[in-house]
Amino acid sequence: MKLYLDTAEFDEIKQGVDWGVIDGVTTNPTLIAKAGQDHETQVKRICGILGNVSAEVVSEKKDDILVEGRRLASWHKNVIVKVPMTPDGLAAGKILAGEGTRVNVTLCFSVNQALLAAAIGAYIISPFVGRMDDINEDGMQVVRDIVSAYRQQDIKTLILAASLRGPLHVTQAALAGADIGTMPFSVLQAMFRHPLTDAGLKRFKEDYLKSQEATPARDSEAIAKR
Ligand code: E4P
Repeated sequence: MKLYLDTAEFDEIKQGVDWGVIDGVTTNPTLIAKAGQDHETQVKRICGILGNVSAEVVSEKKDDILVEGRRLASWHKNVIVKVPMTPDGLAAGKILAGEGTRVNVTLCFSVNQALLAAAIGAYIISPFVGRMDDINEDGMQVVRDIVSAYRQQDIKTLILAASLRGPLHVTQAALAGADIGTMPFSVLQAMFRHPLTDAGLKRFKEDYLKSQEATPARDSEAIAKR
């Protein structure tokens, strides 16, 4: 499973890229507003360091989504245009996909919606796990079911587990067979952590320092024997 960051904060994205673990970024209007930057400037900047950058339309009507989607796609070849899981979103998405633009269908909450997205040739489908959990539905089960349906039907659309809220969600998405998991920077940081890693590092450092303290004595013994 590829790991994406779900943020528009450039410093976080740069850090993830420097660690060598991030393959892409998903943004949405909320995340762009939070980053406090002009949409175009921010998306182009992120595209400068990553090959898969989802940028979302805010239009609702097919023709408007088409115009906006084409504008987003024109910003950079690395842009993946996010369209909403609505009849207008899919109708515009189909045209965009036909023009060679990679399309990410967002706000997916069921297998049937995922089948509709696949039918228009979407590059990515984004089921929102956390938002389903928020309303007492099992978000990860929807991801599992989409994986199962897509595999049985030999559908090539990539399944991006979105709205991941913690490190356990990431593990579960990978075990479910998602192609991509997108997460906030804090969740990426949490993926690194394990108490035994910290304890092991502390002990290795202590043992090394002890051995260094012992070394000069051994050296002087060797010199005295010469
Ligand atoms: C994905 O493309 C969305 O930007 C994102 O995962 C939404 O997550 P949230 O439900 O935590 O806002």
